[in-house]
Amino acid sequence: AKKKSILDLHKMKQSGEKAVWVTAYDYPMASFAEQAGMDMILVGDSLGMIVYGYDGTVPVTMEDCIIHSKAVRRGAPNTFIIGDMPFGSYHISDGDAVYNACRFLKEANCDAIKLEGGARVASKVKAISDAGIVVFGHIGLTPQSAGQLGGFKAQGLYVDSARSLIKDALAIQEAGALALLLEGVPPELTEFISKKLTIPVYGIGAGIPCDGQVLVLGDLLGMFQNFTPKFAKKYANLAEVVTNAFKEYADDVRCGNFPEEKHVYHIKDSIEDFERL
Ligand code: KIV
Ligand code: NA
Repeated sequence: AKKKSILDLHKMKQSGEKAVWVTAYDYPMASFAEQAGMDMILVGDSLGMIVYGYDGTVPVTMEDCIIHSKAVRRGAPNTFIIGDMPFGSYHISDGDAVYNACRFLKEANCDAIKLEGGARVASKVKAISDAGIVVFGHIGLTPQSAGQLGGFKAQGLYVDSARSLIKDALAIQEAGALALLLEGVPPELTEFISKKLTIPVYGIGAGIPCDGQVLVLGDLLGMFQNFTPKFAKKYANLAEVVTNAFKEYADDVRCGNFPEEKHVYHIKDSIEDFERL
């Protein structure tokens, strides 16, 4: 299939066609995602938890994100790829934000970048958009500010916080974002924001009434065992599949069942020649 453009994604919103994306961090998973026909792949800073074993996304660096985005691009040459700006890469100044956003396009050939926050990052969204880069916003449960939120907690459950999320959504669109991700918010709010904005609104833990969904690969494939968010659906149990494969291999080696005849190379000269070795 042809790679989606931001225009295609906007058309999908208008026609009510849902867009599906998943996170990926390496070549093989990116190639499977592309073969499965994902509309988009996010090289999420969830990388920190899923691949590096940190307990959050805060330690993830630009270098980490670039290296993994490059691998994902090699695995999915024909998929719309979003680079996720890590904590600290866009917080200092508009200039810093533009510099780091450019790196995702120049070095990893990403199609868009995503950053967290509402009105308070509007100047960054504008600066990056003004550089000609497609920006995805991300509000609600924003893992990079989990400290301020008091943990990985759903947002917009009360009128005051719902109102401020609506303001954030509008501020991000106004600043030039061309799509928005809502994380960990009630479906009632998701529906309100999706209808209010002209740009596509996607959800994770935000219910059905929006323009598409994303899931974190580690949750979807059952390979992240530390915890599973309420909103994750497990479509496979890779932890079990992989652990069992490792166990079977170890058993085979210990019992002498591996390698077998078909796994070895045979001598080409006569055995007598080899006996003189
Ligand atoms: O880093 C990530 O995986 C994300 C998810 C919320 C999609 O930003
Ligand atoms: Na992220």
